[in-house]
Amino acid sequence: MSDTQTVDITSLNPEEKKEGYHLEPVRKDYMTNLKPDRRGFITNFPNFQHWSVEGRDTKLEPSTKPLNLYLHIPYCIQRCSYCYYRTENINGKERRRQIDAYVNALCKEIDLAVARFELNKRPLVSVYFGGGTPSLMEAEHFQQIFAKLHQHFNFEEDTELTIEAEPVTLTQRKADVLKELGVTRISMGVQSFDDEIIKHSNRLDTAKKALKAIEIAQSTGATVNIDLMSGLAGESTETWHKSLNTAIESGVDSITVYKMDLYANTPYYKSILREGLNLPTDEEELEFMQYALDRFKEEDYQPWSFFTFTKNGENKHKHSPSLWRGDDLYSFGSSAFGILGNWHFQNYNDTDVYIDSIEKGVVPISRGCDMNALEEMTRAVVLGMKLVSMDLDHFQNRFGFRLEKLCKTAIDELVAEGKVELTDKELRLTQLGVLHGDYAGKYLSRALLSNG
Ligand SMILES: C[S@@+](CC[C@H](N)C(=O)[O-])C[C@H]1O[C@@H](n2cnc3c(N)ncnc32)[C@H](O)[C@@H]1O
Ligand code: SF4
Repeated sequence: MSDTQTVDITSLNPEEKKEGYHLEPVRKDYMTNLKPDRRGFITNFPNFQHWSVEGRDTKLEPSTKPLNLYLHIPYCIQRCSYCYYRTENINGKERRRQIDAYVNALCKEIDLAVARFELNKRPLVSVYFGGGTPSLMEAEHFQQIFAKLHQHFNFEEDTELTIEAEPVTLTQRKADVLKELGVTRISMGVQSFDDEIIKHSNRLDTAKKALKAIEIAQSTGATVNIDLMSGLAGESTETWHKSLNTAIESGVDSITVYKMDLYANTPYYKSILREGLNLPTDEEELEFMQYALDRFKEEDYQPWSFFTFTKNGENKHKHSPSLWRGDDLYSFGSSAFGILGNWHFQNYNDTDVYIDSIEKGVVPISRGCDMNALEEMTRAVVLGMKLVSMDLDHFQNRFGFRLEKLCKTAIDELVAEGKVELTDKELRLTQLGVLHGDYAGKYLSRALLSNG
């Protein structure tokens, strides 16, 4: 996530509650149960419940619209205690063999999808390697995949090339190869600079290793982003301040702060039920984020989204924002999901089934969903508000309506709550709106859908 893809968690929501901490990761239905807090990061719309096997076949007109590419690497070197992503741990001798097989499949999938959807005729905005942990691949795997991409696509001078990395896996040799391949952005999951918290999260990093990896990433000349997570087990005001300030002092180009959302498929969740693990409360986490916002303001890290803050407002990345604004994204890899026009699609989750489909020469799409006009508009709002500001003229040009008229009551209420500001040109999250994450976007999308 930094800007990445997630598993379908809609079916995992547990109903259990534990004193002081409600075990509801993403509220099942924010349409009826919306609260002004930071829970429930929206990853997609319409949500996966609406995607079906029948929906995987669609009729698409040939398009020359700009394209983004996503490549999913579903492997990690450990299972982090909080992580809900669909990933597989691979280590030891099997690792190389498994990744070799996966990368071969990925390259064949690129051939199949390019042929079926005529993807190669379009300008390339961005290429994003997400996971899992792409940086656990060997330099040769990157070379193989990039060679395949160059075979089909025309990279433009300003095509953004991002790799997600976990610090311990980023060696200088790999970084040098990434530089040669033209990688322009490295996004690293650091999560915390406190060794106890890192250890408790079951990660193999330390603060020292993370700082070293940041230096290595910076040595490539690429833009460097790091992810921190607020709300990890063991976090206190003191540890949070230390982490945040270390992140700022490292001089990275952008810092992303994710609220730790609790999901039923995580070791954290099991530890809460079995061992009474205590996590920071939602109120404490809000205080952590408020501190982050204050420090970012002092250091001129400006909000590019409600969770990514870029130094002096520069080096704004293109990949996820492009997707949130409604641009096309083709995604390769097991469980990867993408969008072409108003059609969403997702590949098989199971890596063996995914590889099997490719070996049979079939594009490995398992399900899809065509959006109607109202869903498309709702998507533009709920995902678009992540970018802090919504351009109202742009919205009108795209959909034919003024958003401030369609959602007048909801906008008035959000203004009264101090979450948004409205001008002739834009609807903008206030500092409080930024603090509360997806809340304003959800509020507006609820209004749109209930009008529709
Ligand atoms: C694919 S990982 C980043 C790269 C690499 N796998 C790593 O962890 O270093 C994307 C990000 O998702 C975030 N993440 C994982 N589980 C999360 C959760 N339960 N709630 C919020 N963010 C989460 C973490 O900040 C992580 O850095
Ligand atoms: S390394 Fe990243 S993707 Fe893998 S389990 Fe940890 S947080 Fe999740």
